[in-house]
Amino acid sequence: MSTQPVGIHDLSFATTHYFLDHAVLAERLGVDRDKFYLGIGQEKMSVAAADEDIVTLAAAAAKPILERHGTEGIRTVLLATETGVDQSKAAALYLHSLIGLPNTARVVELKQACYGGTAGLAFAAGLIARDPSERVLVIAADIAKYELDTPGEPTQGAAAVAMLISANPAIVTLDPQQGLYSADIMDFWRPNYRSEAIVDGKTSVNAYQKAAQEAWTDYRRRGGRELTEFAAFCYHQPFTKMAYKAHKHLLESQGFTADAADIDAAIKLTTLYNRTVGNSYTASLYLGLAALLDHADDLTGKPLAFLSYGSGAVAEFFSGTVEPGYREHIRTAANQAAIDSREPIDYAHYRALHEAASPSDGAYHATAEETRRPYRLAAISGHKRIYEAR
Ligand code: HMG
Repeated sequence: MSTQPVGIHDLSFATTHYFLDHAVLAERLGVDRDKFYLGIGQEKMSVAAADEDIVTLAAAAAKPILERHGTEGIRTVLLATETGVDQSKAAALYLHSLIGLPNTARVVELKQACYGGTAGLAFAAGLIARDPSERVLVIAADIAKYELDTPGEPTQGAAAVAMLISANPAIVTLDPQQGLYSADIMDFWRPNYRSEAIVDGKTSVNAYQKAAQEAWTDYRRRGGRELTEFAAFCYHQPFTKMAYKAHKHLLESQGFTADAADIDAAIKLTTLYNRTVGNSYTASLYLGLAALLDHADDLTGKPLAFLSYGSGAVAEFFSGTVEPGYREHIRTAANQAAIDSREPIDYAHYRALHEAASPSDGAYHATAEETRRPYRLAAISGHKRIYEAR
């Protein structure tokens, strides 16, 4: 096994063509909009157009990474999602034709609710420790969907984050310790016959906090850093207020006083993209990292904490250190443009997209041309999904 540092060498994110403002949703649901803006900490959520899915999002996130670094050494592609488009074929296989992945690669889809992307990161680190000349493309892509007119509805969203994991990374070097926790819990799940998740909201919030504390305890047992060492904490953010709740819970569980200003200093910058993108499930934690890197003063040499949670449930607490020169490698302008270039959607259009069912008769179905993003789902025909680059 190599002892070379391993971590995130590049990170790029993509989101949908549309967004829905939470003020629009609040009006429809007859609640005060501050319940969303302040109570759960969400102002907008990304909404997939008729011709967008996790493949088009994943392609848009991964393409800039291949443009910058090429494909040499990429022998593994791991795409984590809980919004898969096929029960057998890995979604990332469509990326071969869309963005030109190498044929000499293993391509696999990973699933464990919102935790899947972190599993990808851990597996990638192991492969690179075995052979540091290899690089792994890890993509987390999801479209969160709850039933209309339910409490889960304001916690939808969509995005993809692609990361190139390598030895001697340019952005974040991962520490070797990982704290793990898993348990059989029915807090959030989606049976194969449903397009919308089923959730027990309050149970899920409590399960998340307990899992975070347990994963932290395991991380410390494995020789991880002290809680006071970290410059910032990136949490999975189903809604941004959840990061604040989880951090408060973690601090108090370890005997610290959870001072509001300290919590804000540790969390706030990580929430800036999630506040407007919504829950992007597997991508959410890494969107938090992107927001932090894009907005913080120089983080060079500073340790960061990460808490990944996927309902059902698996949690992982891990950490890493920001590399000197990282600012030359992050994609602040592109990230901001991905958010700013979205178009607002009105409630009727949002509802129609939400209610649209995927055709299952095998006939030719052209998809309405809506997105202006680089890739689109052009049609479904003969039970095959047909994608095109624009
Ligand atoms: P709810 O019942 O609609 O909301 O559900 P609430 O009544 O609990 O209110 C939310 C907050 O707004 C409360 O603050 C209110 O006081 C406040 P808190 O007590 O929590 O601090 N509030 C206001 N604040 C200001 N002005 C007002 C106002 N009115 C109320 N006027 C819930 C909220 C999150 C449960 C719901 O949206 C839901 O079920 N969401 C989906 C589940 C979820 O996101 N769970 C999170 C943990 S599980 C997880 O993270 C995994 C997941 O990502 C899936 C995966 O792993 O794949 C979900």
